[in-house]
Amino acid sequence: MQTEWWKDAVVYQIYPRSFQDSNGDGIGDLRGIIQRLDYIRSLGATVIWLCPIYASPLIDNGYDISDYYAIHPELGTMEDFDCLLRQAHQRGLRVIMDLVVNHTSDQHRWFQEGTSGQNPAYRDYYIWETEKPNRWGSWFGGSAGGYNTQVGAHYLHIFAKKQPDLNWQNPALRDEIYRMMSWWLNKGIDGFRMDVISLISKPDPIPRDTGSDLSPYCINGPQVHTYLKEMRQKVLAKYDIMTVGECPGITVQEAQKYAGTDSGELNMVFQFEHTSLTDGKYGKWSADRTDLVKLKEVLNRWQNGLRETSWNCLFWGNHDQPRAVSKFGCDLPEYRVLSAKMLCACLYLMQGTPYIYQGEEIGMPNPHFTSLEQYRDIESICAYHDFVDSGVVEKRMMLTLLAHTSRDNARTPMQWNSRFCAGFSSAPPWISLGYSWRAVNVEQEEKDENSVLHFYRDILAFRKGNPLIRYGTFELLCADDPHIFAYVRTYQGKRLLVICCFASEFTRFDAPEGITLDDWTLELSNYDGCFVIGNGFTARPYKLRVYSLG
Ligand code: GLC
Ligand code: CA
Repeated sequence: MQTEWWKDAVVYQIYPRSFQDSNGDGIGDLRGIIQRLDYIRSLGATVIWLCPIYASPLIDNGYDISDYYAIHPELGTMEDFDCLLRQAHQRGLRVIMDLVVNHTSDQHRWFQEGTSGQNPAYRDYYIWETEKPNRWGSWFGGSAGGYNTQVGAHYLHIFAKKQPDLNWQNPALRDEIYRMMSWWLNKGIDGFRMDVISLISKPDPIPRDTGSDLSPYCINGPQVHTYLKEMRQKVLAKYDIMTVGECPGITVQEAQKYAGTDSGELNMVFQFEHTSLTDGKYGKWSADRTDLVKLKEVLNRWQNGLRETSWNCLFWGNHDQPRAVSKFGCDLPEYRVLSAKMLCACLYLMQGTPYIYQGEEIGMPNPHFTSLEQYRDIESICAYHDFVDSGVVEKRMMLTLLAHTSRDNARTPMQWNSRFCAGFSSAPPWISLGYSWRAVNVEQEEKDENSVLHFYRDILAFRKGNPLIRYGTFELLCADDPHIFAYVRTYQGKRLLVICCFASEFTRFDAPEGITLDDWTLELSNYDGCFVIGNGFTARPYKLRVYSLG
């Protein structure tokens, strides 16, 4: 039986390598996560999403899986996992796993035995082109066609060369995946976050002479909905779980197909329109500021577009995005706390399931790396070489772009305290700490009742069990204002007015017709005091005010 518990869930996303090290090797692990379960619970989170913890050569930090049934030894053992699951459940925390089934590692048994001829049936678990490969470009740089000498053919890889794409057309492959999913669900996990699930279906045959962009052919490919309906019917429907699909390049209409109330596929999807508004001259590596008018247009469209037909994921960041406060707010010392709180309220008072990416709840900023040696992420390093070696971008400029956009911005160790290695480990960590760890850490923020951390707890407590947050309508106000993001939620005669200033300057907010501020009650804010003059006020930088009525 399926219930909709996930509509009231608050998800805390963990990047295990960077969360908490328990054995002094500089790498976060499962035992470390167990030590921090009470902390996660204390935030008001109800679900943990674990980024991949499976056996992997770590070309893409675990998104290249070599054994779906094994835990990476650096992270722990299966006993550790069972213990984590048990301990989480005892605290009322559910656990969802990353499901990476668009591709495997080239070290996976299927690829190894399929290409060596040891088990030829496995060869057809991947996608081969015997003639010359197409001209598609891999999303991590270079060609998307990798040559395998043993087979004498090219295999498709949307990501790194060592991440061959799986052939979902093969029913035997699909059955293996369903069996594996059932195995984890039977262990008692509470669902899956499905990695790039919108990419699993490829056109057959792969078209020739298309140009380098594979997106139009592989995003929402021809059979994707057939496969997901089958997956639901064969596996998911048997459990009371949550499923969230990562769907780059998706529209509202497509989202309704993947996660429509009656679509029989997933519960919700991650869309990336609001995080991609900074794309510009250097593609996704551009460090432009987000245009607030566009941001409002996008979030308003998703809030109203999925209303009663699907369900939104509320997130500013994840392990693939720079830090929310640095990207959408301002991480200068004078504005970091203010803007992190403003962002928290702005997003989490909307309709949908909140996702907190580890460290966001203390307002962790980007680490501000300054040299290529500090980077670990394959995508960032490949992009550096693509741009710099070809002379398109000069070295220093590229380092500046990466400091704003790299995925490693989100992957530095969690900042627990101001002692050695920020309390993350007793040994130098696998990736450098961000510069801010002495000032920005959990211990510090626990002590300070005006901290971002306390504010996250307040907002999540405010949401909890509040039907207006779950069911209320969403109405965007002053859509064209370049600095203010304001909206009203309404449910059964009760209203909530959220006013957020996204500027580092003073700006004026005037309530539109139909709203008389004097009648409303102030619920939450991030500054003490405010002069209401006329039917509005002067908003200080990154100001937040939340009012209720009725
Ligand atoms: C997803 C993951 C990302 C990974 C990619 C390939 O986008 O979030 O971290 O590199 O898929 O698996
Ligand atoms: Ca460790």
